[in-house]
Amino acid sequence: MSKFEITPRLLKLLHGADYNPEQWLKVPGVFEKDIEYMKKAGFNCVTVGVFSWSMLEPEDGVYNFDWLDKVINTLYENGIYTILATPTGARPVWMTHKYPEVSRVEKNLVRNLHGGRHNHCYTSPVFRRKTREMNTRLANRYANNPAVIMWHISNEISGQCFCPLCQAAFREWLKKKYGSLEALNDAWYTTFWSQRYTDWEQIEPPVDHGMTVDHGLNLDWNRFCTDQTVDFYKEEIKPLKEANPGIPCTINLMMFHTALDYSKFMPYLDVVSWDAYPMWHNHTDDFGNALATAFNHDWMRSYKDKPFMMMENTPSTTNWHGASRLKAPGMLKLSSIQALAHGSNTVQYFQWRQSNGSCEKFHSAVVSHRGKDDTMIFKNVAEVGDILKKLNDDIYYTTVNAKVAIIYDIENKWAIEDSKGPRNDGMYYNDIAMSHYRAFWENGVSCDVIDSTKDFTKYDILIAPMLYMLKGDVPKRLAEFVSSGKTLISSYFTGLVNETDLCYNGTLPALGLDQVFGLWEEDMDALCDHQSNEIVIKDGVLSGSHRSLYICDLVHPTTAEVIGEYGKDWYKGWPALTKNSFGKGEAYYFATHPDYSLLKPFYESLIDKYGIKRALGAALPFGVTASIREGENGEIVFIENFLHESVKISLPAGREYKDLLSGETVSSEIELEALGARVLK
Ligand code: GLA
Ligand code: ZN
Repeated sequence: MSKFEITPRLLKLLHGADYNPEQWLKVPGVFEKDIEYMKKAGFNCVTVGVFSWSMLEPEDGVYNFDWLDKVINTLYENGIYTILATPTGARPVWMTHKYPEVSRVEKNLVRNLHGGRHNHCYTSPVFRRKTREMNTRLANRYANNPAVIMWHISNEISGQCFCPLCQAAFREWLKKKYGSLEALNDAWYTTFWSQRYTDWEQIEPPVDHGMTVDHGLNLDWNRFCTDQTVDFYKEEIKPLKEANPGIPCTINLMMFHTALDYSKFMPYLDVVSWDAYPMWHNHTDDFGNALATAFNHDWMRSYKDKPFMMMENTPSTTNWHGASRLKAPGMLKLSSIQALAHGSNTVQYFQWRQSNGSCEKFHSAVVSHRGKDDTMIFKNVAEVGDILKKLNDDIYYTTVNAKVAIIYDIENKWAIEDSKGPRNDGMYYNDIAMSHYRAFWENGVSCDVIDSTKDFTKYDILIAPMLYMLKGDVPKRLAEFVSSGKTLISSYFTGLVNETDLCYNGTLPALGLDQVFGLWEEDMDALCDHQSNEIVIKDGVLSGSHRSLYICDLVHPTTAEVIGEYGKDWYKGWPALTKNSFGKGEAYYFATHPDYSLLKPFYESLIDKYGIKRALGAALPFGVTASIREGENGEIVFIENFLHESVKISLPAGREYKDLLSGETVSSEIELEALGARVLK
């Protein structure tokens, strides 16, 4: 498979939805209607089987695949492929009652009754056996059926289990990691509050009525839960890969979900997919929603540096936001084009048909309870189907190539969020990462969102906000990055602890980063939510006074040049922004979090310095963004207007573009309607 391809069995942009035909097996005519409507909506695939376990195995060891055979084969005869899910998103009631160990134990150490979904113990040998037995049957039956193009493993895999089996597995995991209790005690700093362990059996998971204050334990528990979930996933795919290694496997990841460290799944996932549920038209403006969604798209693409799947988004409303706002005219098209712009090769929905009962009956679907195709939602979905067909040949074999990256590291985030002080009111890791990211997004400059363990060498600009935890060879690679002639930007709360959250002693930021930034940090003053300071810049294009928030680091430049000073408080005049030449490159240090009024021109000057490509050559009006996908046949420019009013956009002088949706040739200036989008070649 080439890096652009989602699945070898269907080399096209995918358009589809979660489909649960098992809910209507008793109602004549629904399946036939579904097929008729799917064709009308321009679907080429559906995701089947996500929650079908009790229909596939109605009793322990009694299987029924007849209905699924009919669904998959009839869809295929009608040109619709199946993404087949393993049914472990939810398990049958009989299993819970027959094998109590499969139910998850919550943090209060009480075992759950049957309920909801996920809710399983991923360690349980019984649950693993039942999963293997099911998946082996699915694989033997469908892995070589040309209708099945992909495996969708479980659903939004997540959660932690605190049962005795998981606790025992945690202790084994720790033994493997540390070798001796002595090493574990040192790594977790257990002399504090008399916590030293003298027997592996004494180690309990972090629960609210137990040990909560040991940051090393908390981190390792999160790491263990990630590893245990990855291990479960690896067992899930084993029979599928044995039956046919060529069928790709994915799990649908979630927006800003960081309870698991998704990076650990990547060696075993063929394609990244995720579920996009921004709160369009809800309590934040759509520009903020668009920014967060763009950041998540780029995060997902960056995991494998290749096209990904938007596995779910709602055709109109969710039913779990505060208020279920219908997507305004244009919004579905715009959000679909946004996904494509950031490298998705699919637009898929939850869900095809609205269920009649239970808790998602008011979540919108392509086909609602009214059963009609003459609705705004249906027409919007069909329009997206047309758009995907029109764009297919030009964009399928393209992707986003970024020269800028932001480090968004999940273990680092866990540690920052667990830290007591300096700001228990919030360190805002997500928001701060997004505020740096925004400057590129608004300028039409592609940006990757990466883990700190990823290779940095292909980037010109690397931003590492609050790189609190230093992992492995990261400090060394950061130094090499800068000395090779590139630019690194970091901030307060950087280079303070190791991988078990033990503070470094001596000069900070640690492990040579003081040399890279040309300064040493003495202390940090945390501001209350209602307080701010200022970064005052005396000369140059950034000159002026810019508000700053959250933390004010007190730093002493050694070789760094002071670009901005604090404008207030008793440390007025101390450095607030510095720049250091290190080898052939430069490293900037924001001692405090600047307002966007500084971040935007700051990054614009770096974009210009490196001559980094802006999608439309110039800055864009507020509310509008643009991005580029490129491939062997050139560049495709996507323009998105997240304002609820029309806006005029200047195109680069002397260039003509083909509007791939209207077929027109455009140049000099175009007008985008409210929530409008264009795709230009
Ligand atoms: C998630 C799940 C779906 C559905 C949607 C509703 O993304 O994967 O099964 O519950 O949420 O928005
Ligand atoms: Zn368990």
